[in-house]
Amino acid sequence: MNVINDNGLIKITGRIDTTNSPEFQEKMLAFACDDMTIDASELEYISSAGLRVFLKLKKSVNGDISLINASPEIYDIFEVTGFTNLINVTKKLKEIDITGCEVIGEGANGKVYRIDDETIIKVFSHGAGADIVQQERDFARSAFIAGVPTAISYDVVKCGDCYGAVYEMLNAQTVAAVIKSEPERAEELGKKMGALLKELHSTKADTSVLNNMLDEYRKRAEGMAKYLTKEETEKIKSLYFTLKQCDTVVHGDFHSKNVMLMNDELIFIDMGDVGYGHPLLDIGGSYLGMMHLAEMNPDICEKYVGINAELCKRTWKAITDEYFGERADEGRKLAKIYGEAKYSLTPYIYNGMKGDMIENFVNRVRINGILADSFDISLAFENNIF
Ligand SMILES: Nc1ncnc2c1ncn2[C@@H]1O[C@H](COP(=O)(O)OP(=O)(O)O)[C@@H](O)[C@H]1O
Ligand SMILES: [Mg+2]
Repeated sequence: MNVINDNGLIKITGRIDTTNSPEFQEKMLAFACDDMTIDASELEYISSAGLRVFLKLKKSVNGDISLINASPEIYDIFEVTGFTNLINVTKKLKEIDITGCEVIGEGANGKVYRIDDETIIKVFSHGAGADIVQQERDFARSAFIAGVPTAISYDVVKCGDCYGAVYEMLNAQTVAAVIKSEPERAEELGKKMGALLKELHSTKADTSVLNNMLDEYRKRAEGMAKYLTKEETEKIKSLYFTLKQCDTVVHGDFHSKNVMLMNDELIFIDMGDVGYGHPLLDIGGSYLGMMHLAEMNPDICEKYVGINAELCKRTWKAITDEYFGERADEGRKLAKIYGEAKYSLTPYIYNGMKGDMIENFVNRVRINGILADSFDISLAFENNIF
């Protein structure tokens, strides 16, 4: 057994039992500090005498103690003894080598590789931490348990310098790919997407795992105050404060490239933005993904949602006809209001936007977006569709 200070990270190695636990205690207390992180990658065994040292340590420091990189065996010891309730214990991530694996998809977050006939790995870009990947995995799992059709999520792994999430491989094509090769199916598949979304919006969420998206949007709208006038901020805030709280699932990024068609059945993928809240948050987001671009910048539409502007418009009409039924015209107007409202929050959401860029953005929204005087939002306060 040894305890080493490796550039500020405390590492414990070897076996800890009754014979060396007094020495272990002495060394650990010497290194004790607030919010302590301990690396267990080389810890082979720990007995109850060793665990008691963690109890003493917990009493002598303020804040959390985190034990990282535990082997599955070490993790089990902390888990069965209940110590995972006292200390944040995380397992060492499995490493997966993707050299030679076929790329089967690409999105905004990274690339998707086929590992074998049953599994794929979504490798996130550099900069996405393990917590972001773990969150997508947890959201996908929570939605799956709630009954949402989506791929099984297995594990979070390390892939060189990046992190990845391992999912069940769907033998399927994205709806966008199908519509692109068979444009005559835009209406049929749009209708199916509308039915799928309606089903999602009647599925109860596990609110202990997923985030409250209405609270999140309200916070974003309030955060826009530093870029907008008081009246402008109030206009956007009023849209989110008029919506009621709902405990049903929202996808957060619902468009033709995030739904796959497998044996005639539609399946959601890309669950990183899943949460719970009012359906209009989701439908507004889809408007932004599928229609805002199609109208404002048709040239780049295909890059984001996999189909061109004309096919987007046809698919969107079918989605909303199915979703809203007889009240589709009203529904589409509401979708546009919440889509343009979401768009206006961009400077708050993406911290990549700075100075002049924000000013130009806000000015454009003032001219032809939700902040234009001519943009009528009254329907949002009169609507009784939901
Ligand atoms: N479980 C899966 N089975 C098969 N293909 C998948 C699966 N998940 C994703 N893909 C493919 O990878 C692409 C990107 O995945 P996605 O989760 O949407 O990533 P991003 O968050 O980067 O948009 C998808 O459009 C799809 O083509
Ligand atoms: Mg995607």
